Amino acid sequence: MNKMEVIIVGSGIAALKTAIEASATKHVMLITKSKLRHSNSYLAQGGVAVAMSKEDTPISHREDTIQAGRYYNNATAVEALVQTAPVAISELIASGMEFDRNSEGHLMLGMEGAHSERRILHSHGDATGKYIIEHLLRELALSKVEVMEDTAVVELIMGDDASCIGVKIVNHEGHLQTMCGEHIVLATGGCGSLFQFTSNASTVSGDGIALALKAGARIRDMEFIQFHPTLLYCNGKTQGLVSEAVRGEGAKLVTESGKAIMKDVHALADLAPRHIVAQTIYSYIERGENVYLDISMISNFRERFPTVAALCLKNGIHLEEGKIPVAPGNHFLMGGIETDGKGRTSVEGLYAVGEVACTGVHGANRLASNSLLEGLVFGSTLGRYLQQAPQRVLPQEKKTLKKTSPGLITLPELADIQKHLMHYAGIVRNAKDLGRLKAWLESFQIDCLLELACENASIHELAKVNAIIVSWLIAESALARQESRGGHFRSDYPIENDAVWLDTSIILDRHEVI
Ligand code: SIN
Repeated sequence: MNKMEVIIVGSGIAALKTAIEASATKHVMLITKSKLRHSNSYLAQGGVAVAMSKEDTPISHREDTIQAGRYYNNATAVEALVQTAPVAISELIASGMEFDRNSEGHLMLGMEGAHSERRILHSHGDATGKYIIEHLLRELALSKVEVMEDTAVVELIMGDDASCIGVKIVNHEGHLQTMCGEHIVLATGGCGSLFQFTSNASTVSGDGIALALKAGARIRDMEFIQFHPTLLYCNGKTQGLVSEAVRGEGAKLVTESGKAIMKDVHALADLAPRHIVAQTIYSYIERGENVYLDISMISNFRERFPTVAALCLKNGIHLEEGKIPVAPGNHFLMGGIETDGKGRTSVEGLYAVGEVACTGVHGANRLASNSLLEGLVFGSTLGRYLQQAPQRVLPQEKKTLKKTSPGLITLPELADIQKHLMHYAGIVRNAKDLGRLKAWLESFQIDCLLELACENASIHELAKVNAIIVSWLIAESALARQESRGGHFRSDYPIENDAVWLDTSIILDRHEVI
């Protein structure tokens, strides 16, 4: 059996940063179920938020983060994020990462929703994620990190003391392998692709959360899902992200007849927090009215937003007409595997970092462009922690008797799950819909799926099992939180109810809701 010191699952910014840092002293293996460049981080457009201008301060960044998060954020995590951000970005620039600069050589700072200052660094206009990942991949190539692509984790291997001691993995040929590790890091991203409308990469489907739950780790805040207001919308389908930075440069949300829909909704109008903009657009679409981004005032659109321009061209949208049709879709999960500030989960030997983790930094709704920053800051913190971690003597593997097949249950196709989640646990939720969704998911015998040994399953079947488990966590949590806050909007409980819910979290510990 192979043995590594650190095993990292995932290939986004948090995974790469953790791997590069940890590899300074440790033998690291990075495993991804697809390719290194196939991640949400690679698709990220807007940029990285950081208080770097003379007018700006980490305190102002902190206030904006907490206000967008509807005061539900973990204050310590927010402080770590905003205070470390300038240092982390300076280190990134010093290592050769290039952000866009003006003709005088000063960093250009973009604007996005719910920020009180211009503080978004970007690269090649709206291809920030791609260029940061390419930069980190160059660093990875110079490190001693080993990489396995096209390899999925079937399950986490547990020791007889209930700690995590490795991973069982399968490649695309179906070859099964066991790998032991002293420190197992999940950096698999959120679960956006479980929804019909999403900005996420197709592989981001909640695998890490299902694995962690099965291993006994605490999962929390799964009701808090961010719907990005503006995905390109053509022929009844969303086709990819239209960055919020487009509104930061002046674009307005309008109806077919040109009515500005955000004008009377919020003081920040088109740059209001994402949940407010998404809910407003949704209300128009529900009434049968299309919504557009009026971009006619952005004269240099193609240079500033080459990725969005290419997406529009691919989908037959003519920018000369000055209007891009948009609809909201799942963008980001604020909840996930509960961790402390170092990335440690409730299971010894198991860590989580990036979107899959829930440090509480984003509260009930993430501030725009805080996600690449989260991956960078918390990936670096975890990587440095692992550098120093003493050698771990692994216990014996726990022997369990697991069911080897889902029996007579036929699992639904992913497309069916995606439609159900969008319809019953989407932008506007209520008890009746969530109850229906939960009952539908439970008809696939969740208890049985949690106990299933998936080693005989194909990667596709494994994805379906994980998708049902994670969808069930979302339904259960969204049903339990009887208020509206940030990304979680309940039409039957439309009020943010601080007295009951501000200090209450929905935490799932195996089958228990705490
Ligand atoms: C965007 O460019 O609108 C997305 C940025 C983010 O989600 O932070």
